[in-house]
Parts: sequence; structure tokens; C-alpha cells
Amino acid sequence: MVDSPCFYGTLQAIEAQGLKALEIPTDPHTGISLEALELALDQWQVKACLLTPTFNNPLGYSMPDERKRELLVLLKRYDIPLIEDDIYGDLSYETPRPRTIKSFDSEGRVILCSSFSKSLAPGLRVGWVAPGRYQQDVMHMKYVSSMSTSTLPQLLSPNLSPPEGMTGTCEKCAATTDEAGILCWSGLSATSRREHG
Ligand SMILES: Cc1ncc(COP(=O)(O)O)c(C=O)c1O
Repeated sequence: MVDSPCFYGTLQAIEAQGLKALEIPTDPHTGISLEALELALDQWQVKACLLTPTFNNPLGYSMPDERKRELLVLLKRYDIPLIEDDIYGDLSYETPRPRTIKSFDSEGRVILCSSFSKSLAPGLRVGWVAPGRYQQDVMHMKYVSSMSTSTLPQLLSPNLSPPEGMTGTCEKCAATTDEAGILCWSGLSATSRREHG
């Protein structure tokens, strides 16, 4: 299930997997229509929901926090995982940046994905995922699709590993160091970022 319109690459990825996309009407200010989503969930066997709820491409909206929360409650009711594409989230002009839906998730339902494509360079091809309860499945998919990301671009990317003693859960996106292998950049305080260099 995707918002409509959505990033064309999302539709291409769904098609390449032999899956079907169910498009849900979307408001250009508040994001996906929760009312339409509920109707669709009643009618169809939806397997997953894939959204870019913050600085959406192409519409530009960021879902208000309350809508983000409500969306998660709805997905919980129907036991649907959410793939949260947060690729533009760190480009916020404001601090703190808008919250991820993942930051409201206490049961590992949200698979948070991002990358350096929009903040550093698309050619690095380095991204990350905080997969929650789906970690084993995600690791398997990575293994069978590309084995691993090559080491050189990873080394060229900013080192986001938390300094010793600084482990735990990111305040903003709720990724844990175990889950993401890193602490989300936006979850670090300004001081910690400086310390990171
Ligand atoms: C919403 C969204 N998700 C994912 C991507 C893909 O990014 P990448 O360059 O990391 O493949 C894009 C690229 O434009 C995008 O707009």
C-alpha cells in the first residue's frame, strides 16, 4: 500500500518484485488519507505499507505528528508493517527535525530506511535500515540481493558509530545501536555531532 502520487521508484521496486501496489488518496498538506486507508484495509489483504511521511516526494508534505501517531495505531489494528522511507528527513531547516513514525513505535512494527543520497552524494550508494522486528528478514534480503554493500563507499561515508559509552536508542527515530549499527545522525545532540567531527 502506497500513497498516491508516490515516488516513481517505489512503484518500480514493487513491480520488480512481482507485487501489486494499492494506491491511497493523499492530501498535499497532511499526507495519506487515514479514512481511505481504513476502508482499503477493510477490503484488501494488504501486506505492507510503504510511505515517505516526512518531506514527501513528489507532494512535499510532512504528516503532522498526530497523523503519524494515528497511522501507526491503524496499522497496529490490522497488524501491517510500515516501511518508512525517511530519505529527506535529515534535510530539515529546523531543529529538531520532524519526528519519524518509527519514534512512536514501541513494538518494532516500523522498518525505517534512509541513505546519504540526498544529504551527501547519490553516488555513494550507502543507506541504512532500522528494521525492528523484521531484522532477520531484512538481513536475508540484503544477503540474497547484493550480499553486502562494498566497503570503500562505507568508509567514505561519515562515521556515525557512537563513541564508546554512547549507545542506546536514538531520541528522534528510535533506532537502537544494535538495530541500525549506528545511532541515527539526527538523534545526536549538537555537541555529540561536533565530537563526531
Ligand atoms: C522518496 C525517495 N525514496 C528513495 C529514493 C532513492 O534514493 P537512492 O538514491 O538512495 O536510491 C528517492 C530518490 O529520489 C526518493 O525520492
